[in-house]
Amino acid sequence: MNTAAPALSHSLLAAASAIAGVESGQSLTEALAELPSNVRPSAQALSFFAMRNWGLAMGLRHTLVEREPPNATLNALVGLSLLLLETSVRAGEQTPAAGTPVYTAHALVDQAVEATQLQRSTASFKGLVNAVLRRFQRERQAVLADTADAPEVRFNHARWWIDALRKAYPEQWERLLDAANAHPPLTLRVNVRATSREAVIQAFAHEQIGSTAFGEAGIVLDVPRPVTTLPGYAQGWWSVQDAGAQLAAPLLEVRDGMRVLDACAAPGGKTAHLLELADVELTALDVDPARMARVEQNLERLRLLSPKVRLVAESATRAHLWWDGKPFDVVLADLPCTASGIVSRHPDIRWLRRESDVQQTVKLQREILDSLWSMVAPGGKLLLATCSIFPQEGEMQAESFSKRHVQAQRLPAPGQLLPSRPDAEHPAGHDGFFYALFTRRMQA
Ligand SMILES: C[S@@+](CC[C@H](N)C(=O)[O-])C[C@H]1O[C@@H](n2cnc3c(N)ncnc32)[C@H](O)[C@@H]1O
Repeated sequence: MNTAAPALSHSLLAAASAIAGVESGQSLTEALAELPSNVRPSAQALSFFAMRNWGLAMGLRHTLVEREPPNATLNALVGLSLLLLETSVRAGEQTPAAGTPVYTAHALVDQAVEATQLQRSTASFKGLVNAVLRRFQRERQAVLADTADAPEVRFNHARWWIDALRKAYPEQWERLLDAANAHPPLTLRVNVRATSREAVIQAFAHEQIGSTAFGEAGIVLDVPRPVTTLPGYAQGWWSVQDAGAQLAAPLLEVRDGMRVLDACAAPGGKTAHLLELADVELTALDVDPARMARVEQNLERLRLLSPKVRLVAESATRAHLWWDGKPFDVVLADLPCTASGIVSRHPDIRWLRRESDVQQTVKLQREILDSLWSMVAPGGKLLLATCSIFPQEGEMQAESFSKRHVQAQRLPAPGQLLPSRPDAEHPAGHDGFFYALFTRRMQA
């Protein structure tokens, strides 16, 4: 059990401000990057835990404070403190899941109240935070009973998201929400240019790290751990990649000498996979220069940079700025999307997205796809990929693409992959993805 560290008040306030950042449209990673480095690690642990359980946090806050607190940091601080108080009390009743932050109730209340004093915008709400937390301590069972039935609490997702999944998947929506709430396994893809899967599994076993092979080049660890502590990280023996994402590159059947475009490449997971599969001439493109820098770092670590690899920080919709007019044999369109299929790995996404984001994303995807299609050689292939489970970004997008482009012939591909947890048959499970493969018909 953690006893109150002197800095807990600082960590609570920092985590609350990062969570408030998510409320205002920043990803949690972006919001955490803005924090002072001394509080970042503890705020990261608290805020990730909070995002995994934010339905309960906000449910308790709604039950105990009917009117929305006047600023987002205060709202997040109240929610976070209530959540931590509940999980700490619960930890005394049953063993908590690994990684659950646990405090003594007295210390937590004390530090939460102290946290309000650290910032001018929250300082006048010391009494409110104190009163709310103490009332929860007194009336816990009744408050939990009043809170538990709300769909946001039961399923731990925003209401519009729950409704959207219920509509799209009337039979499976509850299973999908539960899968998003589970902790994902740590899955790797072996860099077969650098080593073999057997050699990596043996190197892990040598350090008592249990792992299992899956798919063509995948390994799933028995127990997740920090990736930089695994053998072979610096040597580029493997990349972290979900089992579902590992299906993308092989679908394109790249062969030596092909001209390949990876049009939405960052951070480079599938770029690296394509380069591991064949000796191709590859252009990796991403509109975000900072994310493009990560592609370079990743390819460098994997020893995959070469004169045949071109990295371009530009938009796929502005081809005239970077395309030489020579068609590509293969185009990977791993489109920007709501990321609704990878919530178990990015727990902030379900709170970050707004319902209107879906239509906006669909429009951007359509523009990117139409621009890319003009670059596909006759007989060449384009893979439409997203990590979403909303049909608008998947099957509906693929059908509308087919209607706009009569030369596009659909080829077999997995279509909508719904997230699944590991089981005996699929030891790695997988996130939610959509894949549609097209070839450009040869001219008659
Ligand atoms: C799903 S991520 C790609 C993941 C990547 N393929 C991988 O496997 O690691 C989508 C990417 O599309 C990029 N993007 C968004 N709009 C774009 C555009 N107009 N042109 C090119 N890239 C774009 C984003 O910056 C983001 O990095």
